[in-house]
Amino acid sequence: MKRLSNVFSQSTGSKLVIDGEVLSDGHAMQAYVKAASGKDKDTVQDRLLKIFTYFRENDVQADWYRIPGLRVFFDKYILSCPFIPNDLKEAEVLSRAIAPNPRGFLQEWTQKFGAIERFEIDPKALLETIEILPDVKQDFLQKNLHSHAYFYSKYTEWHITRCYQKSLKAKQVVDIGAAYNGFSRTLAAFDPNVQITMVDLGFPVGLKKTTQQISTLGADAADMSVIKSGTVDLVCMHNAFEHFAGNSDVECLKEISRLLKPGGVALITPFFFAQKHSVTLSPAPSFLFDRTSTYTQIVRKELEATDARLDFNTRIVSPFARRYDMETTVSRIIETVPDLRVVLKGCDFSETDSPQKHSLPDAPNMEIDPRLYELTHFNFLEFTKT
Ligand SMILES: C[S@@+](CC[C@H](N)C(=O)[O-])C[C@H]1O[C@@H](n2cnc3c(N)ncnc32)[C@H](O)[C@@H]1O
Repeated sequence: MKRLSNVFSQSTGSKLVIDGEVLSDGHAMQAYVKAASGKDKDTVQDRLLKIFTYFRENDVQADWYRIPGLRVFFDKYILSCPFIPNDLKEAEVLSRAIAPNPRGFLQEWTQKFGAIERFEIDPKALLETIEILPDVKQDFLQKNLHSHAYFYSKYTEWHITRCYQKSLKAKQVVDIGAAYNGFSRTLAAFDPNVQITMVDLGFPVGLKKTTQQISTLGADAADMSVIKSGTVDLVCMHNAFEHFAGNSDVECLKEISRLLKPGGVALITPFFFAQKHSVTLSPAPSFLFDRTSTYTQIVRKELEATDARLDFNTRIVSPFARRYDMETTVSRIIETVPDLRVVLKGCDFSETDSPQKHSLPDAPNMEIDPRLYELTHFNFLEFTKT
């Protein structure tokens, strides 16, 4: 794997130097903490405080997850971080006893709404989606943050949307929580007539055309008022909806219902669910780098309202994520959009073809894999405007 030890100094313009030691990555930080003498203000806690204070006071947010060994360091020591409120630390530790149990959610769904509909993926067509733009693929292989399952998960999400765009002959597509243009360029490469608007909190505010086929809208998903009502054929959210904190998930769905043409479709891919509603926080961006207490307030409110599990997870890059249980799926999603028909779909490769036959020549050790984010279930929500 590519070493990224220089990222720290590149991204911050400064180095983490403590007691004369340059701590360029998480491994060096662990070694520094472990070397505490235990005497005279030189305990493990003292050394951790110096490191956490450095992060708190310096802007390293953009690339923190690329610093080698930093996630492992946070995993080991995050509960010692004084910037996380104690009530949330306690809630997180207590929540560990409660299993999220996604299978339980699927059973509940089947009892309430009937069988989960099957969505068949043709592995050959998935590989076409991967291969259409070699630079997007290479960029992805290099930036692959987690594992090969992440690479295929991402492309599978994009591929599903591509299948819908094709079958609906969708001309106007909105990609909410787009983050970057990998998907919109891929879709545009398949159909010269499609127009894609990428929406993200992180984009420059307002609507801007960036290429013939692609525009960006810097906005909260809760307010996309610059896009006219009833003008959109297809809305996609790839690994995005579960990150819309506070009430933005509910408001976003209302906006989607306003934007869609009759017969138009919206997709939440994947749909993250659990038998018990869960709030997941990536502690570094949500507490260490965020000095506004935004996430503290949002999470306390959600824990009170839903009796949710709280889960700290250093593997996710976004500060906030959710997994919906049946009650919150009904109250926050289904009942919010009575004019949209909601269907839960489960994906699998087509049975007529063996996925093992297909692999990427430049990544031969990566088996094609239809699971999303190493979940055993690969499900998405489809909404159709009636
Ligand atoms: C995990 S990333 C999405 C990845 C991307 N869709 C892809 O396929 O690679 C989640 C994105 O959601 C955006 N986001 C989070 N909350 C949002 C909100 N309330 N409104 C709009 N975008 C939001 C974040 O800025 C981030 O870029």
